[in-house]
Amino acid sequence: MRILFIGDVVGRTGREAVATALPRLRATLRLDLVVVNAENASHGFGLAPDMATALFAAGADVITLGNHAWDRKEIIPYIADSPRLLRPLNFPPGTPGAGAALVEVPGGRRALVLQAMGRLYMDPLDCPFRGTIAELSRHRLGVTVAAIVVDFHAEASSEKMAFAHFLDGTVSLVVGTHTHCPSADHQVLPGGTAFQSDAGMSGDYDSVIGMVKDAATLRFWRKMPGERLAPAEGEATVCGTFVETDDATGLARRIEPVRFGGRLAPAMPVG
Ligand SMILES: [Fe+2]
Ligand SMILES: [Fe+2]
Repeated sequence: MRILFIGDVVGRTGREAVATALPRLRATLRLDLVVVNAENASHGFGLAPDMATALFAAGADVITLGNHAWDRKEIIPYIADSPRLLRPLNFPPGTPGAGAALVEVPGGRRALVLQAMGRLYMDPLDCPFRGTIAELSRHRLGVTVAAIVVDFHAEASSEKMAFAHFLDGTVSLVVGTHTHCPSADHQVLPGGTAFQSDAGMSGDYDSVIGMVKDAATLRFWRKMPGERLAPAEGEATVCGTFVETDDATGLARRIEPVRFGGRLAPAMPVG
């Protein structure tokens, strides 16, 4: 299975770049499954229903959120009716929406997509390790589902690496989101799970993690409340990761970074 995961879409520039690129990427990379993290799509904070609809129409099979899941309140009724829009699975029981989605992919195959949120330097949710294992206990990689993609929304690389090794051999991909900086540690772990500690954001990198740099910088050095943060509107770099899995086992054959547009050096899988 050929899978593309796109990291945190930030603001209008990120939304437009991703929506414009997805139809072309689906064709050129011959993608079977596309997952997009869109927790910052609405002016940096949350996701509005019309934006989710536009990303689905452009070719996202599943959209994930994160700690900004509820910043746009309109998403709460929308998520209840949208099984392919995910929030972290370790929110308290009874939270609207789901943390896992089973999707049909071409060739009569099925894929499972999950999102969990880390706890180091984040809101202390329920245990992401136990929550993920409980969700995975309903499925068998390479038997009941051809691929399993896990978005681990977390701040600390240490927690992300620990989480990936914990799942190594039981899922196809563990990819981190939330830091908005693409990491260069993409690899297939010894048990066959592809891993990248952060996919990076899809937004303007002439910024502080996607937000206008002057206001964001002042907050750090003046230690005074300042202007409201707003997303930087320059050309976005679309960042993500590409994985090819073996359908017989569901494990990864390769993982390669995807970056194009804007200021970061481009990277695109070949073949
Ligand atoms: Fe984010
Ligand atoms: Fe986040």
